[in-house]
Amino acid sequence: MLFKQQALLRQKLFVLGSLAIGSLLYLVARVGSLDRLQPICPIESRLGPPHLPEQIPLRTLQYKRGLLHELRKGNATKEQIRLHNLVQLLPRAIIIGVRKGGTRALLEMLNLHPAVVKASQEIHFFDNDQNYARGIDWYREKMPFSFPHQITIEKSPAYFITEEVPERIFKMNSSIKLLIIVREPTTRAVSDYTQVLEGKERKNKTYHKFEKMAIDGNTCEVNTKYKAVRTSIYTKHLERWLKYFPVEQFHIVDGDRLITDPLPELQLVERFLNLPSRISHYNLYFNATRGFYCLRFNIVFNKCLAGSKGRIHPEVDPSVVAKLRKFFHPFNQKFYQITGRTFNWP
Ligand code: A3P
Repeated sequence: MLFKQQALLRQKLFVLGSLAIGSLLYLVARVGSLDRLQPICPIESRLGPPHLPEQIPLRTLQYKRGLLHELRKGNATKEQIRLHNLVQLLPRAIIIGVRKGGTRALLEMLNLHPAVVKASQEIHFFDNDQNYARGIDWYREKMPFSFPHQITIEKSPAYFITEEVPERIFKMNSSIKLLIIVREPTTRAVSDYTQVLEGKERKNKTYHKFEKMAIDGNTCEVNTKYKAVRTSIYTKHLERWLKYFPVEQFHIVDGDRLITDPLPELQLVERFLNLPSRISHYNLYFNATRGFYCLRFNIVFNKCLAGSKGRIHPEVDPSVVAKLRKFFHPFNQKFYQITGRTFNWP
């Protein structure tokens, strides 16, 4: 009798155990297969109409990002591109400048958004005559593969200051969104100088001090022929752009705030691009060793910008700094007036 009860109990335990293991295996298999299947599903069914990007499931696009990463390594066959609905689209937004404003940081940070894909390299299509002569299809082929509803963004800071660029971009797409990231003009000029100085030093060449470049030795006035100074006269360049595009098509990003507190700036850009707010505190963490915010894509993948971003600037004679700030002041006022964005620049 006792033996019979024990056998019955063992049988019950066996059935319960099998059920539990079975359910577990089913769950694991289901989660796995969902992940694997996601990119093959018709994209429209998951993304919703283009003007309602709120419906983009973050996890799906993160998974897709992984797929795109694989494809970008050069292993994509035509069949894979067709199967996954991948396209190479012209940019719907361009970071046109300003050099040393934080253009790389802005592009990389926007790329955290699941609906954004970045062109990794500066393409220099519109500012380089040789490239421009290659035609729009050449430009399109330089763009990354993306899913149809994603926004492709490229950055080439030379666009902002190059004469021919506004007209050329207008001819490509007159309703494109244009991003300009600016920093306090004197700091930007010093950053610009520091980059050139580092290049010279790498080639064991000597270079003038910043003060000598920025101030005209004969007149003791600001040297407006010096490119680093001219680039910081933001309003002059912007006025050329405004001959082609209305001011509403530009969004000004505060490059100084992007360094110290990037999230609010990125949220403003998300809104400008009509994207749902997806970049969060989780995606940005302060790295004390680097002294900058770094990027977290997910639990395994994070990165800081290259060491060439965030150089130590040389000390500049305070009287030269003061002279430059005074020089930029009226241009800054005009810039605030035109753009409707005011900064606390001295
Ligand atoms: P400095 O090197 O003068 O500090 P760009 O990409 O347009 O060349 O701009 C470079 C600037 O981006 C750097 O200038 C740096 O201050 C700024 N920057 C903003 N956010 C950054 C970040 N998270 N990491 C590194 N540099 C960042």
